Amino acid sequence: MTIIVTGGAGFIGSNFIFYTLKNHPEYRVICLDKLTYAGNLSTLKDVMDKPNFKFVKADICDREAVYDLFESEKPDVVVNFAAESHVDRSIESPDVFLRTNIIGTSVLMDACRKYGIVRFHQVSTDEVYGDLPIDRPDLFFTEETPLHTSSPYSSSKASADLLALAYHRTYGLPVTISRCSNNYGPYHFPEKLIPLMIANALNDKPLPVYGKGENIRDWLYVEDHCKAIDLILQKGRVGEVYNIGGHNEMRNIDIVKIILKELGKPESLITFVTDRKGHDLRYAIDPTKIHSELGWLPETKFADGIKKTIKWYLENRSWWEEIISGEYMDYYDKMYSNR
Ligand code: NAD
Ligand code: TYD
Repeated sequence: MTIIVTGGAGFIGSNFIFYTLKNHPEYRVICLDKLTYAGNLSTLKDVMDKPNFKFVKADICDREAVYDLFESEKPDVVVNFAAESHVDRSIESPDVFLRTNIIGTSVLMDACRKYGIVRFHQVSTDEVYGDLPIDRPDLFFTEETPLHTSSPYSSSKASADLLALAYHRTYGLPVTISRCSNNYGPYHFPEKLIPLMIANALNDKPLPVYGKGENIRDWLYVEDHCKAIDLILQKGRVGEVYNIGGHNEMRNIDIVKIILKELGKPESLITFVTDRKGHDLRYAIDPTKIHSELGWLPETKFADGIKKTIKWYLENRSWWEEIISGEYMDYYDKMYSNR
């Protein structure tokens, strides 16, 4: 079994590579990644020398490079994590989101059609459903919830989902799609809420909470997401969408306070800043389908996962300090100074 993992130098893709090499040592794993600002080769250093692992630097939009890779490696399975993934960046510059997230996905699926494949798995997000009201805790996203996007990021991901379903119906491509809630854990890029707040708190910098911090996200430990995707590859039905989430809804402000408490830092570091444009209010997944069909359940409770995550950031300071010292500083200044 040869599996191509695109975007494997990023947060979830790298965790999926570690999960797969550990749980399926008989697989060959090929990571295809462009190494954008969000991709980090140092993340993969522990697996780089494994005989059944290979890293290939390429853009999923580069048809020639993708076809060459398929021709030489003859993959059985492709799991597509490669994407521009940050909502705030999509609000500033949508173009690259449309290119990578939509065109890139179609190039990969064209390669799958041309060279043949057992499965193409599209890693999607609950953000394709838009948001839910904060005062209706009885409402959840199911796989039948209409797509209703808010940001250029979520619109590009929804477009890719529609294309994947169209390739299944029109060409019979064996496609599956998963739509997961917010992930957290090791190797999470410091522009996102949890690692940003950990890094700022450790550096005694202000913690920029958008609006009043009342927006709700449904948090899942990254390894539970990887396990769910693995199950979908083994037992999922082609042409189907599976929602992934662990009923762990939390307000942003409460997450930030937990991080401060865990690190022994004062709440006076919290700074309320101008809200995100079009800010989704609440995400909440109904995971009934993946639970009843595939037997998936999350294993890591948030109370344990956040402690493990904070410990990881404390023990791997050089990983994130290197990232926040480079061009990331320009991004941070642009997004947060005078906000
Ligand atoms: P990330 O930003 O940490 O990593 C993205 C990776 O893709 C990077 O390694 C980057 O170099 C690579 N990449 C970007 N453009 C590329 C291109 N054109 N060609 C090849 N490689 C390219 O993202 P993440 O948080 O790990 O998210 C991975 C996937 O999971 C995305 O598709 C995202 O939409 C989805 N997702 C993320 C979350 C979350 O909470 N982070 C939740 C649900 C779904
Ligand atoms: P983020 O990690 O960007 O994920 P997403 O927007 O995909 O859910 O943001 C999570 C929540 O945290 C979201 O409601 C926006 C909020 N947030 C802040 O309040 N401050 C920040 O600096 C960031 C990055 C996010």
